[in-house]
Amino acid sequence: MTQRHRRTPLEYVTASLAHPLSFAGAVVAFLTGALLVTLIVLDILGLVKNPYLGAVTYLLLPILFILGLVLIPLGNMRARRRQAQGEEEKYPVMDLNDPGHRRRFLIFGVLTIVNLVIVSAVAYRGVEFMDSVQFCGKTCHTVMKPEHTAYSFSPHARVRCVDCHIGRGADWYVRAKLSGLRQVAAVALHTYSRPIPTPVENLRPARGTCEECHWPAKFHGDRIKVKTHFQEDEANTPNHTVLVVKVGGGSTESGFARGIHWHVANEVRYTASKDRERIYDVSVRYRDGKVREFKRVGSEDVSAGDSLETRLLDCVDCHNRPTHIYQMPEEAVDAALVDDAMDRTLPYVRREAVRLLRGSYLSEADATTGIADSLRAFYQREYPDVLTQSGDAVDAAARTITAIWRRNIFPDMNITWGTYPNHIGHRDFPGCFRCHDEEHATADGETIAQNCDNCHTLLAVEEESPAVLEQIFPGGVSGQVEAGTRQP
Ligand code: HEC
Ligand code: HEC
Ligand code: HEC
Ligand code: HEC
Ligand code: HEC
Repeated sequence: MTQRHRRTPLEYVTASLAHPLSFAGAVVAFLTGALLVTLIVLDILGLVKNPYLGAVTYLLLPILFILGLVLIPLGNMRARRRQAQGEEEKYPVMDLNDPGHRRRFLIFGVLTIVNLVIVSAVAYRGVEFMDSVQFCGKTCHTVMKPEHTAYSFSPHARVRCVDCHIGRGADWYVRAKLSGLRQVAAVALHTYSRPIPTPVENLRPARGTCEECHWPAKFHGDRIKVKTHFQEDEANTPNHTVLVVKVGGGSTESGFARGIHWHVANEVRYTASKDRERIYDVSVRYRDGKVREFKRVGSEDVSAGDSLETRLLDCVDCHNRPTHIYQMPEEAVDAALVDDAMDRTLPYVRREAVRLLRGSYLSEADATTGIADSLRAFYQREYPDVLTQSGDAVDAAARTITAIWRRNIFPDMNITWGTYPNHIGHRDFPGCFRCHDEEHATADGETIAQNCDNCHTLLAVEEESPAVLEQIFPGGVSGQVEAGTRQP
C-alpha cells in the first residue's frame, strides 16, 4: 500500500464486502430489507390481512435481516485478521480531515440510519402486531379457533385478547412473551393439549386487567333478568323465569359492599382442586378485620385424591367465561327461538334441534349435512305437510342449528358440550353452589348459605304467562336471554 488511492463510494462498498461472509450477509440483508419495507408498507396500507404474513413480516424477516447485517462486520473482521497474518491486528484509523475517510463515514452513517429506521419500524409494528386479536386468535388457527370463535360472539368481542390476558406494564408483557415461546414450541411439536386446559394458570390477577375497564364500586344495584326456556312439546311453548339479580357493588375504599359483589370488597380465599371445581376450605377476612373459616364437611376424605391450590378469589372465579362463552344446546336453541332465528311454529323444533345438536358428528362438514338431512327426514316422516308448505323454514332452522354447533363444538380440539364449565349461576354447572351448598361450615356449624333470596328474588319460575311480566312489559315480552347468546 504505497500509493494511496482515493476510493469511490462504490469501490469502498465492494471492498468492505470482499470477504464471502460479508457478501452473503449483504445479500441477505438487502433482500430481506427490501421485502420487509414492501410488506410493512402493504400492512400499513391495510392491503394484506393474512395472519401468517404478519408472523413472517414481524418475526421471521427481522431475524434474517439482523443476521445479515451482523455477518458484514464479521466478514470484515475475518478479512482483517487474515491480512494481519499473525501480526498484531490493527483497527482502521478514522481521520475526518481525510476526504476519503469522511466519505466512508458518511456512507456508513447513512446506511446505519436507514437500518435503524427499518429495525425500529419493524419493532414498533411488531409489538403492535403481537398484541392484535389477529395474531393471538388466528395465527395458530386450529389451536385458538374455539376461543376466538366464542369470543367473537361475546360482549367483549371488541376487547383485545391482550387486555385480559396480559394487561398493562412491561413485567407482565415479558412474562407473557416468554410463556408464548413455550407455546409456539408446543404448537410446532404438536404437544399442546386438546382441549387447552382451564383454568389458565398464572393468569394476571383481575385487578390489573378487568378493573382497568370495570370499576368495582360502580356495579349497579339490582338487575332484572327474564329467561325464556321453551318446552319440548309440539307447540314449543315458551316459559318465563323472572328474577331480580342482586348484582350489587363493593369497594374496599368506600366501605360500601352489598349483594353479589360483596365478594370484591371482602377477602375470600379458597382451597380447591386444580380445576377449581371441588372447593374445600374457604376463609373470609371481612372488612372489619374479622376472620371466619368454613371447611367442607368430610373434606379430609374427599381431598385425598386432589392436588390442591389456594387462591384469593377475584373476578374470574365467578366470571370465568366473560368472553369465551360456550353454550349448552338447550340455552342456545332457546336463544335462537327468542331471536326468531328459528321458526317457532315448526312442530317440535325445540326438541328436535336439541336432539340434533347432541348427535355425534366427525367434522363440520359431517354436522352440516347430518343436521340438514335429519331435520328434513323428521318432518318428512311426521309432518309431510309442514315440509311442503314451510320447506324453507325447515332449511333455515337447520342452518341455525348448524351455526350453533359450529361455534360450540370443535372436534379437532376435543371440545364438546360442557367441556368448559361456566361458574356464573348454578343451572348447568355447580358455579356458586361450589361454596354456597350448606356443606361448608365453621367450627360452630354456620354454613355458607344457599338461601335463594340472598342472590336473587325469584318473581316467577318457569311460568307460561307470569303476571309480573305483564307489569314489566305491558303488551308483550321482549325476550332477554343470557349473555353471549347473540346470533351470528
Ligand atoms: C374479557 C377478557 C378476555 C378477553 C378479551 C380474552 N380472554 Fe381468553 N380468557 C379470559 C378468561 C377470564 C379465561 C379463563 C381463565 C380461567 O378460568 O382461568 C380465558 C381463557 C383463555 C384460554 C384458555 C382456555 C379456556 O377457554 O379457558 C385461551 C386459550 C384464551 N383465553 C385465549 C384467548 C384469545 C386467543 C383471545 C382473543 C381472541 C382471548 N383469549 C380474549 C379472558 C379473556
Ligand atoms: C378493555 C376494556 C375491558 C376489559 C379489560 C374487560 N372488560 Fe368487561 N366489558 C367491557 C365492555 C365495553 C363491556 C360492555 C359490552 C356491552 O355492553 O356490549 C363489558 C361487559 C362486561 C360484562 C357484562 C356482560 C353482559 O352480560 O352484559 C361482564 C360480566 C364483564 N364485562 C366482565 C369482565 C371481566 C371478568 C373482565 C376481566 C377478565 C373484563 N370484563 C375485562 C370492557 C372490558
Ligand atoms: C362471587 C362471584 C362474582 C365475583 C367475584 C365478581 N362477580 Fe361480577 N357478577 C357476578 C354475578 C352473578 C353477576 C350477575 C350476572 C348476571 O346476572 O348475568 C355479575 C355481574 C357483573 C357485571 C354486569 C353488571 C350489570 O349490571 O350488567 C359486571 C360488569 C361484572 N360483574 C364485573 C365484575 C368484575 C370486574 C369483577 C372483579 C372485580 C367481578 N364482577 C367479580 C358475580 C361475581
Ligand atoms: C369460594 C367460595 C364462594 C364462591 C364460589 C361463591 N361464594 Fe358467595 N360467599 C362466600 C362466602 C364465604 C360468603 C360469606 C358467607 C357469610 O358471611 O356467612 C359469601 C357471601 C355471599 C353473598 C352474601 C353477601 C352479603 O350481602 O352478606 C352473596 C350474595 C353471594 N355470596 C353470592 C355469590 C354468587 C352469586 C356466587 C356465584 C356467582 C358466589 N357467591 C360464589 C363464598 C363463595
Ligand atoms: C349464591 C347465590 C345464589 C343462590 C344461593 C341461589 N342462586 Fe339461583 N342463581 C344465581 C345466579 C348468579 C343465577 C344466574 C343469573 C344469570 O344467569 O344471570 C341464578 C339463576 C337462577 C335461576 C334461573 C336459571 C335459568 O337460567 O333459567 C333459577 C330458577 C334459580 N337461580 C333458582 C334458585 C333457587 C330456587 C335457589 C334456592 C334454592 C337459588 N337459585 C339459590 C345465584 C344463586
